[in-house]
Formats: sequence, C-alpha cells, structure tokens
Amino acid sequence: MGAEGRGRVDLRSDTVTQPTDAMREAMRVAHVGDDVLGDDPTVKTLEARMATMCGMEAALFMPSGTMANAVAVRAHTQPGDEIVLEREAHIYQYEGGGYAAISGCSVALVDGDRGRMHPSSVASAIRKSAGSQGHYPDATLICVENTANRGGGACYDQSTLDAIVEVGRAQGCALHVDGARMMNAAVATSSTPARMLKGWDSVSVCLSKGLGAPVGSVLVGSTAFIARAHRWRKMLGGGMRQAGVLAAAGLHALDHHVNRLVDDHARARRMAEAMANHGSFHLDLDAVQTNMVYFGVDGWSALQTQAHLAEAGIDVLTIDDARCRLVTHLHITDEHVTRVEAAVASVV
Ligand SMILES: Cc1ncc(COP(=O)(O)O)c(C=O)c1O
Repeated sequence: MGAEGRGRVDLRSDTVTQPTDAMREAMRVAHVGDDVLGDDPTVKTLEARMATMCGMEAALFMPSGTMANAVAVRAHTQPGDEIVLEREAHIYQYEGGGYAAISGCSVALVDGDRGRMHPSSVASAIRKSAGSQGHYPDATLICVENTANRGGGACYDQSTLDAIVEVGRAQGCALHVDGARMMNAAVATSSTPARMLKGWDSVSVCLSKGLGAPVGSVLVGSTAFIARAHRWRKMLGGGMRQAGVLAAAGLHALDHHVNRLVDDHARARRMAEAMANHGSFHLDLDAVQTNMVYFGVDGWSALQTQAHLAEAGIDVLTIDDARCRLVTHLHITDEHVTRVEAAVASVV
C-alpha cells in the first residue's frame, strides 16, 4: 500500500508512485522474450517508440536513469577526457562519481541559473589538450539536465539548448541530455522531445519518475552510439531478460501519463503560491515551472520544517540545512494540495 493509502501525502519524490491497476494489467498481458538474446517484442516496441519520439535513430532500455547516464558518458568519452556539467547536475552530485570510476573522466563545473548553464559559460569551461602543452584534458562531452532537479525543476529555453548545441559542435564535443524528467519539460514548455533535442547526440529519459512506471529508463541516440552503449550496458550488468513486463509499463505510461503532467505542475504551483503568500517561507517562485518546489521556513532548519509537515501527515525531503523539496506526481490530488495549504497556513 502506498503512503497515500495510509493517509499520508508523500511528496518526497515522483519516484514513489505505485503502478496503477491499468499499468499492472498492461504488464500482465505483455508479450515478452529474452531481451539479452534480442527477442523481447515489447522492449523493441518501447525502444522504437522512444527513438521516433526523440527524433533519433535508436534506443536502449535501461534499468535506471543512473545507468543510462553512466553508459552515455562511457559511450561518448575516453578515459582522461573531461565532461562539462552544471555544478548541481545529478550526474555530478548523485551518481556515485560514476563518471570517474566507470569512464575515467574529470568534470569541468559550470555555475548555472536554476541548474541551467548559459552557453557562454559552457564555451568558457571547455578545455582542450591541443595548444596547452599537454596541460589540459580534452573536454569531449557536454551534459545538460532538463528539467534541472536541483534547479527546482526549471526548464531550459529552446534558444539556450540550441545555442549549447552550436558551442558543442564548434568545439567537437558530444552533447547529452539527462532527461530524467524530459517529458515534464516538454509539457511545461509546450514543445516536443524531437524539437527540444534537435542537434543533441543522446538523451536518457526516465519512465519511473513523473511517468509513473515502476522501473526503467531509455537511452536514445544514433545507431552507432546505441551499439556502443549496448556493449557498456552488458559490461555493467544491465542486460535484462523478460524485460517486456517493465517495458509494457513504460509504454502504458507514454500513452496515459504524459498529458496529465500539467496537473502535477499546476498542483506544485498551488503549493508554492501558498508558501509565497505566507510570508515566513522562502522559495524561488519563478523556478517552480514543473512538479517540484524547493522551499524553507525563515528561522527554521530543514529538519524542523520537515518535522512540522510530517506532523500534518505530509512527507518531504530535506535538501540542505535550510531547504526542503516537495515533488508532485501521479497520486497527488487536489485534496492533498488543500492539506498542504492548511499545513503551510499553520506555520507561525
Ligand atoms: C535529474 C536526474 N537524473 C538522473 C536520475 C537517476 O535516475 P535513477 O534513480 O533511475 O537512477 C535522477 C533520479 O532522481 C534525476 O533526478
């Protein structure tokens, strides 16, 4: 039983969702095969659909977003290369240093605006060994995160994405999007994945976040890139056998859980506005563009804020000493928003 079923409002993450009955039924009836032997039809359908949706040639089903990013970094780089990343990027902050351990890469960190890098900052961060008397590593990969998790769920403007593509092309860098919440970005900016990703080499998309599937991410790119990624997925132990049961959940999510993301965004906005109107909360309302709210209460530690909300049956995560994060998702209703508004009002 999910936390909501026990009367709590679980806003810790959009990863806490339970598969719906309809999703479980889609999983039950899925045609499956041995995907390591290449004959799971449901996995193939999901991969083909994701490639078409992203305007790219090929795709590969992955157990997690972390593995999809790790494989993407490994397939785009050589040991000793450098990756340009925003300081708060998930790949840098929360993936166990896989870029160093698995790919042997260093990172050039860029300060962003709500987790988003400015193209000129990306250009300045790129170092090349040529012309440096061998002092510098070769930056060969630029990664952006859209939506930007630690940026409060903010989305990149299309013009910024396009300008970063130009920087990457001019500097001979591959371009990867950590699109764990790409569908939230597409819905929030009224765009399409194919347009957003024009010029990018690869994207990792999570099915297990706002889309509400229990497991799985998809890595998308060119046929040659996906062939390299396939080998790295194998080495990391990410080949899955009758994975069609999981791919079926992803296909169901693409059919039924994309358009409804606007509701998650509207509910996060209502919660954020209640906080902004309160006076004792601090938050960046302009960053609330999708399903996340990063917030704190003046004079309270994040643990105090978390405990106050927990008393009202509302669960959030602490992000640092002062701030908490809430994330709306498939199970959050208007009634839950009302409960959060009441809990916010009860802060004195
Ligand atoms: C932006 C971003 N990228 C990647 C991931 C990793 O996904 P997973 O938890 O499936 O490994 C997450 C997880 O929350 C994320 O927020």
